[in-house]
Amino acid sequence: MSCSTGHGYAPPPRRVKSADWFLPCPIFAGLECQTPGLAQSLGFRDDFLYCVMMNIQPLSGALGAEVQGVDLLHLEQDQLQEIESAFLEYLVLCFRDQQLSPGDLLRLTERLGGPGETPYLGGLPDFPEVVPVVKEADERSPYTFGAGWHTDFTFQECPPDRTLLYAVDTPTVGGDTLYCNLYQAYEALSEGMQAVLSDLNAVHSAVRAYGPKATLREHLENMSIANDTAEPQTMLHPVIRQHPATARPVLWVNPTYTIRFEKMTEAESSPLLNYLNQLAVSPSFTCRVRWQPGTLTMWDNRCTQHCATSDYAGHRREMLRTTVAGTRPLAQGRGH
Ligand code: SIN
Repeated sequence: MSCSTGHGYAPPPRRVKSADWFLPCPIFAGLECQTPGLAQSLGFRDDFLYCVMMNIQPLSGALGAEVQGVDLLHLEQDQLQEIESAFLEYLVLCFRDQQLSPGDLLRLTERLGGPGETPYLGGLPDFPEVVPVVKEADERSPYTFGAGWHTDFTFQECPPDRTLLYAVDTPTVGGDTLYCNLYQAYEALSEGMQAVLSDLNAVHSAVRAYGPKATLREHLENMSIANDTAEPQTMLHPVIRQHPATARPVLWVNPTYTIRFEKMTEAESSPLLNYLNQLAVSPSFTCRVRWQPGTLTMWDNRCTQHCATSDYAGHRREMLRTTVAGTRPLAQGRGH
């Protein structure tokens, strides 16, 4: 249950967050939507109202949550802090009924750390950091942008920490985005495999998606995509990454950009990479975001992969995408 934006409550001086206050939130939020001011007239404190308005509902047992009762355009500092701690807990956060212009999306991105570099993808003329992800109803290609499991731009030296995707237009059904939890993928490995992988680096490259022979751009006729004219540079990253905020180990490979292990050939690497890539997307490590116009989803590229589904032929889907700049991935327990 979520209230529409513009409810007009002044933010309280401090938050109260305990299970006792939190449990009745959906009920009170609904009553408040119908009768604004009800809780105050019943004598509840301001900070109770504030608590009532924000509610977090998990999307699955693995990762992901829907945050209700938040207006991303008017975030108070303490709301932002709560969102940031929920982000570290749930890895994927979904906000419904937001009304964001491209400029608003960019301002939000700046507030979260500032935009990352986005090579290959053309942005909006007035907001180059905001990339439209569009598929028109009459496009015949079976592909959609992002329709293979990946973590965003891991071929970069400092890949983006997070991505924000805002739905402008969505099919009535289909076009969902799937996510997987790479902490859980690491934890599912045997101690022996964890130890072997923790000494390895992997080579990440944009070659399959944006190299001279890549065909992605031919499938996405309403997006502006520039391929490299020469073989793209590769980047070495640890196979077991330490999340910089939680210090937890993450299995950090993906089938789109990780092409082999350091000092090994692709043929030698692929049996183990295939095994790890399949493990990472086990159904029990995933969640699904169903989009509606006005949904904004933010995901943590340091510990998730995602995949758009191409199941909406004949329907239009338009999203706006930004990334937040990241830091160089560090190896778990190696310090380099
Ligand atoms: C992306 O991979 O960045 C976009 C995913 C989507 O459109 O669902």
